[in-house]
Amino acid sequence: MQIFKNKTDLTAHIDHLKSEKKTLGFVPTMGALHQGHASLVLKGLENNDVVIVSVFVNPTQFDNKEDLVKYPRTLEKDVVLLKNISEDHIIVYAPTVADIYGNDISSTSFSYDGLEHEMEGKFRTGHFDGVGTIVKRLFEIVRPDNAYFGEKDFQQLMIIKKLVEKHHIPVNVVGCKIHRASDGLAMSSRNTRLKPQYRKAAPFIYKTLKTVKQNFGTKSANKITEWVKKEFAKHELLELEYFIIADVDTLKTVKRKSNKKTYRAFIAVYADDIRLIDNIALN
Ligand code: PAF
Repeated sequence: MQIFKNKTDLTAHIDHLKSEKKTLGFVPTMGALHQGHASLVLKGLENNDVVIVSVFVNPTQFDNKEDLVKYPRTLEKDVVLLKNISEDHIIVYAPTVADIYGNDISSTSFSYDGLEHEMEGKFRTGHFDGVGTIVKRLFEIVRPDNAYFGEKDFQQLMIIKKLVEKHHIPVNVVGCKIHRASDGLAMSSRNTRLKPQYRKAAPFIYKTLKTVKQNFGTKSANKITEWVKKEFAKHELLELEYFIIADVDTLKTVKRKSNKKTYRAFIAVYADDIRLIDNIALN
């Protein structure tokens, strides 16, 4: 499997693949790969000749320094996981911070027509500017035909679709279903940092979302939201940061349900100092 550490070599290789009319899939990641990432790569392999996986912990999207420092970095293990999927059809791009940012580790400011002001945008200042900066840069380097993002970060997926539309980037953005552990916890690189009692408690998040879905047809969004807040207030280990039921197009909190619209429930929870997010389609 080819592993590129700098964009000059990767660009030359991509030029070559493009000259051979190969289709390119792209899975951008921050590493610490798990089965959720593997499912994105497999999806990419179904529809492209080659899949490029970037492994880069992007400093500009972290609003919390400690989270950036503690973010798991496991490139050797990541490469093994990818080799087990395919030695020949996957390329890894694992750049240094300097390869991406040079001396200027800063983000550009983006407008995503208001999507950036909801949920994660409220709680993680500058996060989506950092995401937009890195994803746009990676799209420019990799020049993929298709790019794959998980629905666990549903707001990020919507924002990337908006970024592509507004900046006329010629890539097809594909959203992929959330991959869950057998107990329901959404796969996340941060799960590896959960202490055992918190890991055991964390499936409560998805269990709650499933009950929300069951009740969505008969109860108001307000009532459901109050119920979720109470459930978490009683919980000894998990601390709710936000729960909202939102319109999937605007990501704004629903005031009155309409059967012409599509809704999703979104949640962010602290398990000790680890922040977990999840969401579920409601109708
Ligand atoms: O979802 C992630 O892992 C990151 O936000 C991404 C898209 C790789 C950008 O750094």
